[in-house]
Amino acid sequence: MQKVTLIPGDGIGPEVSRAAVRIVEAAGGKIVWETVEAGAEVAIKNGTPVPDEVINSIITNRIALKGPLTTPVGGGFASANVALRKRLNLYANVRPVKTLPGVNCRYDNVDLVVIRENSEDLYSGLEHIVVPGVVESLKIITETACMRIGKFAFKYAADNGLTKVTAVHKANIMKLADGLFLECIRRAHRDYPEIEYEELIVDNTCMQMVMRPERFQVMVMENLYGDILSDLASGLIGGLGLTASANIGEGGVAMFEAVHGSAPDIAGRNMANPVAMTLSAAMMLSHIGQPEAANRVRGAVEAVLAGGKSITRDLGGTASTTEITDAIIAAI
Ligand code: NAI
Repeated sequence: MQKVTLIPGDGIGPEVSRAAVRIVEAAGGKIVWETVEAGAEVAIKNGTPVPDEVINSIITNRIALKGPLTTPVGGGFASANVALRKRLNLYANVRPVKTLPGVNCRYDNVDLVVIRENSEDLYSGLEHIVVPGVVESLKIITETACMRIGKFAFKYAADNGLTKVTAVHKANIMKLADGLFLECIRRAHRDYPEIEYEELIVDNTCMQMVMRPERFQVMVMENLYGDILSDLASGLIGGLGLTASANIGEGGVAMFEAVHGSAPDIAGRNMANPVAMTLSAAMMLSHIGQPEAANRVRGAVEAVLAGGKSITRDLGGTASTTEITDAIIAAI
């Protein structure tokens, strides 16, 4: 049995978390859940969206499954997601994006993974008003973090039998910051000469992803580019309802979550697609050494999507969150 911290989260979070937990249990996942609350409602009660209890639970259990957390736009408290990633030093965000059977979308051959540096860049939150009407926002790039993510990306490629890594950057403009990033990724590549390596400017990358997504395997990039390009990648395979992610730290700490947010427009209406959260739970099962349960979850999700009957509205169907969850459990 593995003890796992469960953070249901805001908006659609509790609905998709409940679905994922039911599916993991049906698949024979040997998990003892420890539920703790974080997010916007917790911030109103406690003054912080991430109470120490949450951090302590994850540090103790080392593994967490997290629902989306709402961040107020333009003011209010700082992002609880960024706070969690920073406080737990979850430096690598891994977002696999693969065409799923039966999902109606523009491509049938996408199989890439976005590896996003998770700890710095413009997400350092260092902003200030210089004089009224002028704001300075600091982009922090360090050799330590770039080397760490570079090594992670090449190791990920090697461990998963992948043959190509693309570093995404804007070093033509940010010559120092993105220049340092590229220099570190090149250094990391030296240990993996058998892996093909290329560098691509971020704007060109967006165009290439839309035109020829099959040319990418592992894509490594700074925090902001990774945030944006992983949503773009989700769109290539049918949307945010389908894409899972892992936040990996040092010393075995890892937090798994869907790429999507709290979707306030559909929250509480039993309409959310639980597949992204469920596939995140499958990534977690693989990570903690329960690959059979992980494969059962993935197989059942794929069977239900391929069947095309019990699919949610974001995929063109009419099924509720509960109906697709029941169908996945039946397929298991
Ligand atoms: P969002 O991902 O919540 O929603 C974008 C669009 O995708 C919406 O139309 C939504 O209905 C749809 N969508 C998302 N997930 C879906 C699902 N599982 N099934 C069906 N449709 C789905 O992004 P948005 O609206 O920009 O952000 C809402 C809140 O979520 C914000 O407070 C934001 O800060 C937060 N957020 C949190 C994240 C996290 O916890 N990791 C990640 C992204 C956003």
